[in-house]
Order: sequence, then C-alpha cells, then structure tokens
Amino acid sequence: MSRAKVGERLPYLLAKLKARRVLQRLEQTAERARAEEWPYEQFLETLLEAEVFARDASGARQRIKHAAFPALKTLEDFDWSVQPAAEKPLLLHLAQLAWIEERANVCFFGPPGTGKTHLAIALALKACQHGSRVAFATAQEWVSRLEQAQDRNQLEHELRRLERYHLLVVDEVGYLPLERQAANLLFALVSRRYERGSIAVTSNRGFEQWGEILGDAMVAAALIDRLVHHATMITLKGKSYRLRERGTGIAPSAQAPSLRDSA
Ligand SMILES: Nc1ncnc2c1ncn2[C@@H]1O[C@H](COP(=O)(O)OP(=O)(O)O)[C@@H](O)[C@H]1O
Ligand SMILES: [Mg+2]
Repeated sequence: MSRAKVGERLPYLLAKLKARRVLQRLEQTAERARAEEWPYEQFLETLLEAEVFARDASGARQRIKHAAFPALKTLEDFDWSVQPAAEKPLLLHLAQLAWIEERANVCFFGPPGTGKTHLAIALALKACQHGSRVAFATAQEWVSRLEQAQDRNQLEHELRRLERYHLLVVDEVGYLPLERQAANLLFALVSRRYERGSIAVTSNRGFEQWGEILGDAMVAAALIDRLVHHATMITLKGKSYRLRERGTGIAPSAQAPSLRDSA
C-alpha cells in the first residue's frame, strides 16, 4: 500500500462497524493527535469514547421510550419542601439503584396527588439511564395485558417475557378494585418476579386495605408477603400537589369544594 492510501479504507471499515461518530471525528482527531504527538492509545481512546458515550445516550433514549412513562419526571424537579415525608436522602439513595441490582422493590403509598407516581417514574428513569430495561403501566393495564395473554393461552410465555425487564412499575394499585381473576393475575406477576426482578408499586391504599382491593385476604397476604420481603416503603402525606399548583395561596379545599364536601 502506498503512503497516499493510508487510511483510505477507514470510511468503509467504520461504516461497516456502524461507528459513525468515530468516522465523523476521525480527521479532526487525527490532526490534533499529530500536532500534539499523542501516543497511539490516546488517539484510539479519544475516538472510541465519543462513540461509546453516544451509544449509551441513545440506548438510554430507547429504553426510556420503551418504558412508556406517562410523563417524564425527575428527582430534580421534585419539590422536597412540600413533601418532607419523602425523605430526600432515602430517595437519593434509591436513585443509586442498588435495589435493582438486588431485585428488591419499592412501594409508594399516600393520598392522590402527593407525588407517588412522580417519584416512581423518577427512579425508573434513572434506571433506564443506567442501562436497566423498564416497563411502566397501571395495575389495571398490567392485569389486562396478562388477561389477554391468558386468553391466548400464553400466560406463562408472557410472564417469562416480562422477566427480561429489570424493573416493572405497577402504578395505581387500589384505585379500582380488581376482579378475582385479575387479582390472581396480579399475584402471578408479583410472585413470578419475586427475587427475579424489581417492582415499584404506587398505591393510595395501605396494605391493610389490599385484601379489599384484591377481593381476597389470602391472595393479598401472599402477594404482600412477596412484595415486601425485600422492599423499601415510602409513605407520602398531605394535600394534593395538583390542587396546590393551581392556586396562589388559596387553600385547595376552597378551590375544590366538592372534595371537601364529600370528605
Ligand atoms: N413534591 C412535588 N414536587 C413537584 N411536583 C410534584 C410534587 N408532588 C407532586 N407533583 C406533581 O403533581 C402531579 C401529581 O403527582 P403524582 O405523582 O401524579 O401523584 P400521585 O401519583 O401520588 O397521585 C404530578 O404532575 C407531579 O409531577
Ligand atoms: Mg399516581
């Protein structure tokens, strides 16, 4: 190969490797490396780093999209001052994601609008950014997904498929009571994931009311047992942030008389 042709095949080779960013930066980086007399290793490292960073970012984007969050919420936009029950140090610790490595769970309780879903999404988003596969749905949606699988005689297959996720978010357990069959499916989901993968649950009802939600105290007890064996429980308190956001200093009850009247 003559000198003039050194590097001639690089565009082809890099395209073949799908290393688009290496190709984009090649000329500029090579120039700089020559000018600054970089060691070979530094040159290669600089180019590959750009590629790897870009791939990580695009992987995270894919995982976030796939997770199907209803909205993107972060710990950074959480106002801790209105919700001291959400202990910031604990949440920041959970944001380190060791619990997902350990296949443990997190349960958020509290009245509507106190930030349960916000915090569950924030942790799940972090997980996506750090390489975990995540899926978000409400309890009702999970149940109907499993019902459909069962109707096709594919329940087992579907449960196995869900094992590929590192984290499932099960939002809004207890907003609607579940039929017996649905409760059994939710139990199947939780027990299948036990020590195999993480779950983050949000519920406006305490565990003592889950018997009622699931229509069966035994099923509820068995489900809770598996869920809490390795779990962090967080109970949020106070008034709905949704109502608070609307007004400027007007008490939520003054703005929503129907809520006060029915309370
Ligand atoms: N402490 C907070 N700081 C910032 N936004 C909050 C806070 N608590 C709730 N929100 C916002 O208020 C709305 C309702 O919160 P959400 O998490 O859906 O409540 P829940 O799931 O407990 O019913 C969301 O838009 C959420 O982002
Ligand atoms: Mg919610």
